[in-house]
Amino acid sequence: MRNPLSERIVTIPPSGIRKFFDIVSEMEDAISLGVGEPDFDTPWHIREEGIYSLEKGRTFYTSNAGLKELKVEIANYLKRRQELLYDPDKEIMVTVGGSEAIDVALRAMLDPGDEVLIPQPSYVSYVPCTILANGVPVPIELEEKDEFRLTPEKLLEKITPKTKILIMPFPNNPTGAIMEKEDLEKVAEIVIEKDLFVISDEIYSELTYKGQHVSIASIPGMRERTVLINGFSKSYAMTGWRLGYAAAPKEILGQMLKIHQFAIMCAPTTSQYAAVSALRNGDEDVEMMRESYNQRRRYLVNALREMGLECFEPYGAFYVFPSIKKFGMTSDEFAVRLLNAEKVAVVPGTAFGDSGEGFLRLSYAYSLESLKVALDRIRRFVEQLEKEQGLR
Ligand SMILES: Cc1ncc(COP(=O)(O)O)c(C=O)c1O
Repeated sequence: MRNPLSERIVTIPPSGIRKFFDIVSEMEDAISLGVGEPDFDTPWHIREEGIYSLEKGRTFYTSNAGLKELKVEIANYLKRRQELLYDPDKEIMVTVGGSEAIDVALRAMLDPGDEVLIPQPSYVSYVPCTILANGVPVPIELEEKDEFRLTPEKLLEKITPKTKILIMPFPNNPTGAIMEKEDLEKVAEIVIEKDLFVISDEIYSELTYKGQHVSIASIPGMRERTVLINGFSKSYAMTGWRLGYAAAPKEILGQMLKIHQFAIMCAPTTSQYAAVSALRNGDEDVEMMRESYNQRRRYLVNALREMGLECFEPYGAFYVFPSIKKFGMTSDEFAVRLLNAEKVAVVPGTAFGDSGEGFLRLSYAYSLESLKVALDRIRRFVEQLEKEQGLR
């Protein structure tokens, strides 16, 4: 039989996060700080709207780009929160999570051989989606000394005549890094000068703990060069509803919509009705969840520092990214030993790119009680390691 598979897909490894958690799911008493998903239930008024839409028999396809009502609410939201103006009829499309938006944006914009700059550590889908879209991923290795921000120097170093797109993964998964307005202005200047485009993944925009999130699309000259991606999974605790969106100039969005039309048809109808309520009435819920995450964030950073692990202060998303370099092990070794010794699952930093070596990602989208138990176990493990290595 001929090989049924494409060479390209076979060379792409499966996600490093999932691999690890398959082991955890079979281990009794294991505590996981691994999954990047809110522990809150979707707020009731949002669920209720979904249920109501089913009761009303709203079980049909919506238009390809999404429910008009929802697109209007998305446009209102972007105006209210980021002072960005998008035409709901031509510049916004509703997608199956931010995930689909990332994939479709890359497929709509890349020709074979075009290079995509991907600051790392960062979310696991940018590299494989770039490859599947015939592009060439070019990692930019971010460093802790820069608080894992993208600096102009690091950006300039990797630009070639083939560079077309820069992914902007902030607030960042896994580091928790943010980019403030002044940081974005410096990046924007280079993007404009070098005639690049940006795919800005702002899925954690509502989860920042130092001022309000700024979109790179709001920097003068950048709206026409940016595909802004956001969604409902993280801010409204709606991961399973599978809903996100893209906002972009109509020339780009129109082509993205064609891919969506043929591959997906439309995002889930029930979820779209529910999301209208999220945007209209969800501000207080977001505020409540943000406060809770912030409390856990502070607890976790302090606890890790107290046990002698270096941990830069993350101001976004719901992850901390402590360094384990002092133990002279790889992130993978550390994570496997921690899991076997204390049954705590964390994600090795290398799941997010080579520059994640020497770090671990701990999610704080877990209750304070679980975090406390997990932290006690990590403390015991670290003390044991320090004894073994004569560090104590
Ligand atoms: C940075 C980032 N972007 C996008 C996504 C995709 O989220 P969804 O498809 O649920 O909107 C995730 C999920 O973990 C993420 O961390």
